[in-house]
Amino acid sequence: MKRIFVSVLICLIMSLMANGKDVKVTSPDGSLTVTMGVDSGKAWYQVNRGSEAIINRSALGFVLKDGDFKDNFKMGKVSRSSLDETWTQPWGEDAQVRNHYNEMKVRLQEKGGNKRVLVVVFRAFDDGVAFRYEFPEQASLREFVIMDEVTQFALPTDAQAWSIPALTAYYEGIYTREPLSRKKAMSGPVALEVNDSLYMAIMEANLTDYSTMNFEPHGTTLKADLVPWKNGDKVRVEQTRVSPWRAIIIGHNAADILLSRMALNLNEPCKIQDTSWIKPTKYVGIWWALQKQRWTWSQGERHGATTENTKRYIDFAARHGLGGVLVEGWNYGWDGDWTRYGDKFNFTKAYPDYDLEGLCRYARERGVRIIAHNETGGAAQNYEDQLEDAYRLYESLGINTIKTGYVNSHFYNGELQHSQWGIRHFRKVIETAARYHMMIVNHEGAMPSGIQRTWPNLIATESMRGQEYNAFDRRGGNPPYHECILPFTRGLGGPMDFTPGIFEYRNDSVPGTRPQTTLAHQLAEYIVIYSPGHMAADQIENYEHQPAFKFIEDVPTNWERTLVPHAAMGKYVTYVRQERGADNWYVGSVTDAQPRDLELPLDFLGDGQYTAIIYEDGPDADYRTNPYPMTIRCVDVDKTTTLHLHLAPGGGTAIQILHR
Ligand code: NOJ
Ligand code: CA
Repeated sequence: MKRIFVSVLICLIMSLMANGKDVKVTSPDGSLTVTMGVDSGKAWYQVNRGSEAIINRSALGFVLKDGDFKDNFKMGKVSRSSLDETWTQPWGEDAQVRNHYNEMKVRLQEKGGNKRVLVVVFRAFDDGVAFRYEFPEQASLREFVIMDEVTQFALPTDAQAWSIPALTAYYEGIYTREPLSRKKAMSGPVALEVNDSLYMAIMEANLTDYSTMNFEPHGTTLKADLVPWKNGDKVRVEQTRVSPWRAIIIGHNAADILLSRMALNLNEPCKIQDTSWIKPTKYVGIWWALQKQRWTWSQGERHGATTENTKRYIDFAARHGLGGVLVEGWNYGWDGDWTRYGDKFNFTKAYPDYDLEGLCRYARERGVRIIAHNETGGAAQNYEDQLEDAYRLYESLGINTIKTGYVNSHFYNGELQHSQWGIRHFRKVIETAARYHMMIVNHEGAMPSGIQRTWPNLIATESMRGQEYNAFDRRGGNPPYHECILPFTRGLGGPMDFTPGIFEYRNDSVPGTRPQTTLAHQLAEYIVIYSPGHMAADQIENYEHQPAFKFIEDVPTNWERTLVPHAAMGKYVTYVRQERGADNWYVGSVTDAQPRDLELPLDFLGDGQYTAIIYEDGPDADYRTNPYPMTIRCVDVDKTTTLHLHLAPGGGTAIQILHR
């Protein structure tokens, strides 16, 4: 009895000691707390909302090539700071972003051996928490290789998780919802429906000179799973001595997740001094006819990128006030199997039937810019070798945007696109582009992590299953709920080059494959999916004499403020956005296969009278049987008005509200 009493006493004293050493940081509003401690040499963190643990004790640390860096720690100095700043975005969903957090930096030191030091930095915001590792320069840790990051996210319950599998090519997958414990390895961001008042998303922010973090589930615990180099190394720590942020966005409802700007705040301020040349715009392109196999990228009778076709597209853009024309298949390299011979791509030499200089001039004279397409076929080194020459040429011709592409399972050097090599490559392209005043739209790229704050010339990324699948997918196209989950997952990292606006659903090359949405839903995508550079993706002839095209002409791509009045992950979502610098408002609402009736109070409007132009599903509209009917009506509204939105199955509503 005495022995039991003594050992209970020892345990109690030990846990008090451990607790005594636990350190905490709390969000500015006091609701979220991160606790960090070290038990038996192992570091852990925990996240609470009030008294409830919403991330249980979870491991921190690494396995390095020369041994563990995770289980022989003691806690050292703890330093604290806070920030409350508001910064302005050159473009974005909100003009002003508040960055408000309390920070705690904890120094961990190994108890034996070389006594190496690892620092963990925590930030507690009102809308979530984040942490990252710092590797201070020290004699025994100069250059080293990470073989595993042991970071965990231990969910206390089996939340419903929305994600795509970890190995989905280019992240072009369909997000599915399952209990966490039933998921296999997945990519981030992972969106979690925990209960009626707890929603979360786990992702990384500021992915710089590191490899991408996927997640490996063990029951309801997610473990970081870094994408390797081809020799198995995960991260080579050479110059950059910090990891990306591991971010957990936390909300009381699903809309809170969409309104969080944590991912942006966790990135560095803008590195481009003068951003006046970075201009949100909309574009058409020699593109959808390629996806539908009517035209070809390669030379021949059906070559799409001809001088004549491009002139028609430029004229159309000029007539309708669209700023850009994307041209794919203009340069040498497309003939034959270009994924196999990607190193044949030449980024300065145009095909003979494409007058590069003349067309750039023709476009410029009409206030339009050519968007140069640079498909690499995965031969990234070939692209790097030509970057300076190509971008110098483009700048001299007045081209201001480049769409890059990397169709291949691996780069030619065998590295994966989301490995550290890939992340370095993508960043090199963005930084080089900035020097030549080029905006980048990146297809088959990295999973965005908010770096557009630092590099706003990265105006959009694909890294999702875009509209193009509605042309060539053999299973009919994206499911109707697709755009109802994208904003909660992929969209958290940055703008999406989804390419909305398909008006003609006939598909001769893959019959039956088409947008699984109504036409009104296609319009609503311009609001629901954020990009400062949206495409009007259809062939231009399909927009002629279409009253609905007026919405695409009018819709801005840069916003003052964003609100989310309705949101349910994967079911429906409504965005309300105020035009940047104007008292005009736009609404986009989309639903999955279910019809919805939603009430929208316009209490966000200012004083005075407004005109609302409503583009809504017409009678009998249904994405399966009758996708086209649309009613366009005008109503007078003010801030006391409540609009009733009726969304057909797979439907949507797009509204323009103009101050009178
Ligand atoms: C895939 C891209 O997503 C698409 O937009 C492009 O047309 C093709 N690759 C060809 O580069
Ligand atoms: Ca793609």
